[in-house]
Amino acid sequence: MGYLIETVYFLTAALFILGLKRMSHPTTARSGIIWAGYGMVLATVVSFVHPQITAHVSVTNYALMLIAIAIGGAIAWYGAKKVAMTAMPQMIAIYNGMGGGAAAAIAAVELLKDHGDKATAPGTSVLIMAVAGALIGAVSFSGSVVAFGKLQELKFFKDDAKFRFTGQQKVNLAIFASAVLLGLIVAVSHSTSGPLITLFFLLALAFGAMMALPIGGADMPVVISLFNAFTGLAVALEGFVLGNSAMIIAGIIVGSSGTLLTLMMAKAMNRSVSNVLFSNWAALGTGEAQEVTGSLKPMEPQDAAIQMAYASKVIIVPGYGMAVAQAQHKIWEMCKLLIERGATVKFAIHPVAGRMPGHMNVLLAEAGVPYDYITDIDEINEEFATADVALVIGANDVVNPAARNDKSSPIYGMPILNVDYAKNVQVIKRGKGVGFAGIENALFFADNTRMVYGDAQKVVAALIQGIKELG
Ligand code: TAP
Repeated sequence: MGYLIETVYFLTAALFILGLKRMSHPTTARSGIIWAGYGMVLATVVSFVHPQITAHVSVTNYALMLIAIAIGGAIAWYGAKKVAMTAMPQMIAIYNGMGGGAAAAIAAVELLKDHGDKATAPGTSVLIMAVAGALIGAVSFSGSVVAFGKLQELKFFKDDAKFRFTGQQKVNLAIFASAVLLGLIVAVSHSTSGPLITLFFLLALAFGAMMALPIGGADMPVVISLFNAFTGLAVALEGFVLGNSAMIIAGIIVGSSGTLLTLMMAKAMNRSVSNVLFSNWAALGTGEAQEVTGSLKPMEPQDAAIQMAYASKVIIVPGYGMAVAQAQHKIWEMCKLLIERGATVKFAIHPVAGRMPGHMNVLLAEAGVPYDYITDIDEINEEFATADVALVIGANDVVNPAARNDKSSPIYGMPILNVDYAKNVQVIKRGKGVGFAGIENALFFADNTRMVYGDAQKVVAALIQGIKELG
């Protein structure tokens, strides 16, 4: 039976790794998720087949297991079907938090268990791993719940400023140090004291929440990714405690990919992870932002269509607003018309456009845009100067020249798409709404920019109509 279990865990791990590999490309990402899902199903099913996981852990309460799977599965099924694409980050946050919480719960069971038989009792090193996993998992759980609340814009979490106070980092450090100290006492003394272990968990949970509460909403995707890495680490540590190789491998994969993603996101915003964690986006910048001069110059979709139809090179810059409007299908329909008319068309993707990594790539892949048309910031930035029209559809911060020109701007230093260098710029947005960073954008006031107001999907439909009418 042991061999069967290990073989199934090996298969599970292989499915996770192959799934992750497939997720690295938009065209195979969907199947990657499904492969990894099969891996998870295998790992779950095998825990029914083999009730004795290790010498001191047995799983025999099938009724409770089935009830938990039915409740969790139903909530996840309903949630995944209902969730809007724009609400994905908070969904990821809450599911990630559940993973951290589950790892912490496993540790709690292990720590509270009275191992009467000294021969099968876990050693100090195992208990230290259990405590470390518990700490990291609990931090990830409470931090992710706060991240969810902020992204969901729940009333309590609005206004980050109310959660900031002087000496905050010292208080956080004191809570963290106390949790570590208590954890070490529990592990080294092999204590199963309920009050001691409860206090340890309360301190860990408090630290996670205190860490996330003052961080601004704009930085939350980076923080979620960091908590994701924490969850992976916690699961891997608890995998060692239970002697479960599937948990170890899955945890290490999540931990390392989460860490890489966190670093890449911070880099794309030209910030360090510590800067994201310990300073507030809105508080960045060296002073008052430069005054934006010029005026907003509206353009009717019919006129925009004429300019577009006679352009020989068009660069499309999608952003969060395209996701809100679900305009990806329409924009590709328009691009196909332009290509038929002989124009060169490219999509320019900023690494943090939208609200999660790869957000725009996923939407464009869903609309059937071939990958050859999609370029990243380093490939395309040189080309804006040769574009007859750069069409900004629902993007704002990622095309804000203040990141390049204005040292006092909170986004100063963030690499941006050089849309303002194009011969003509058309910007589709509904009105004067600011982007996620909450600041004005000088691009919209530039001489070569025209604002085509309206919901992105409706405006692009009008552009398509206009281009078709030109024959
Ligand atoms: P944003 O700066 O958020 O701007 C989106 C724009 O879309 C808004 O100005 C809004 O203006 C417009 N819009 C909203 N709904 C629309 C609709 N239905 N039709 C047309 N326009 C619509 O978007 P971005 O340029 O993609 O930048 C992303 C931001 O998120 C950056 O600040 C980035 O740092 C941050 N962020 C992203 C990530 C990842 S991983 N993607 C991670 C952390 C932070 P109106 O209201 O006037 O329409």
